[in-house]
Amino acid sequence: MDTKLESTIEVEKPSTRTVEEIYQEMKAKLHDVVPEFELRYKAELVKEILELKAEKNAVILGHNYMEPALFHTIPDFKGDSLELARKAAATDKDIIVFCGVKFMAETAKILNPDKTVLLPSDKAGCSLAESITAEDVRQLKARFPGVPVVTYINTYAEVKAESDICCTSSNAVKVVESLKSDTIIFLPDEYLAKNVARETGKHIIFPVVRNGRMELPADTELDYQIIGWRGRCEVHEKFTVDDVKNARRQFPDVVVLAHPECSPEVVEAADFSGSTTAMVRYVEKSPARRFLLLTECSMGDNIIAANPDKEIVRLCSVRCPHMNQITLEDTLKALQLNQYVIDVPEPIRVRALRAVQRMLEIG
Ligand code: 13P
Ligand code: SF4
Repeated sequence: MDTKLESTIEVEKPSTRTVEEIYQEMKAKLHDVVPEFELRYKAELVKEILELKAEKNAVILGHNYMEPALFHTIPDFKGDSLELARKAAATDKDIIVFCGVKFMAETAKILNPDKTVLLPSDKAGCSLAESITAEDVRQLKARFPGVPVVTYINTYAEVKAESDICCTSSNAVKVVESLKSDTIIFLPDEYLAKNVARETGKHIIFPVVRNGRMELPADTELDYQIIGWRGRCEVHEKFTVDDVKNARRQFPDVVVLAHPECSPEVVEAADFSGSTTAMVRYVEKSPARRFLLLTECSMGDNIIAANPDKEIVRLCSVRCPHMNQITLEDTLKALQLNQYVIDVPEPIRVRALRAVQRMLEIG
C-alpha cells in the first residue's frame, strides 16, 4: 500500500487482519508520532471499528486534522473539506461516519438525505460556523439586494440555505471569479475574505450591526467589491507574523505554509498558502526538508508519519478543540450506538443543496 498521505486512496479492506497485524502496521508507520503503549490499545479499537464498518456497510471519511492513529487507520477516504464533500456525494454505502466537525457532517447529509450520517462527537463545532446566523445573512441580503452571497463551507445548513453558492479554502477564488459580479457578499471568515480580496484585486468592507440594523462604516469607499463578515477561526487567527519571523531566524531553511484562514499578513509572510490537502501535497512534492505548518498541529504528525524524510516545525500550543473531539473510542461508539445522527430539516436541506451543488459543479 502507498505510504503517502494520499487524499483519495481507498484503504485496503482490513477486517480479516488480526490485532497483532494491525498493531505491526501502525507501529511501522506511527512509531515516531504515537507512543508504543498507546498503539497496542488503539490497534484493538481499529480492529473493532473496521469489523463494524464492514458489517454495517458504512464508509468513514477522515479530515486531514484527525489524530494520526485514527487518520492512518480507519478512514476509507481522507482529505480536505472539498474532497470529503465530493466523496460524500459519491458514496453508495448506507452509513457515512464523518471523522471531522459538524458542518462537514451536515454537508454530507445535505448531499445524502436518505443515508444515515454519524458524527462521533456532539461537541465538534467550529468557531467560524458559530459566527453567523441565517438571520444575519437575510439582513445582509436586504441591505445589499441582488448581490450574490458566497458562504464558506464552514457554516451550518441554515446559513448555506440563504446562500447562492458555497466555497472551501481550495476553491474560494475560483468560486468568486465564476460569479462574474463586481460585488459579492463573502461569509463568514474575515481573513479568508481578505485573502480572496487580495488575490482577486477587490476592495473589502465589513458592515456593522447597530441597534439590529446593518450599517456601513462611515469611511466606506463607494467602490467596495467584497462585503465581508467578522468571523474568525479560533486556531488560525492565533498565528502571527512574528511566529514566521522567529521560525525563519531559528531555521533559515524552513519553508512556511499558511492556511488561508490565517490573517493576510501571515499569508503574505508565508511561502505558500492553500487548503489542508494543498499543504500536504506541497510538502510531499517539495525538494525542501523542513517546513513550518501554520494550521492544526495534528496534520504535521500525519505528514511526518507518511513522509519520514520530512521535518515539520509546528506551533502546537493552539489546537482545534472541535476536531480534537473525534477519537477512535468515540468512532467505535458511533458505530455501536448509531450516534450522533445528523439531521437537516428538508426545506433547509433543499435550499442548502443548491449552494453546495453549485460549488461542486465549479470544482
Ligand atoms: P480545509 O478545507 O482546507 O481542509 O479546511 C477546513 C478547516 O476547517 C480548516 O480549519
Ligand atoms: Fe473551525 Fe478553525 Fe477548527 Fe477548522 S480549525 S474546524 S475553521 S475552529
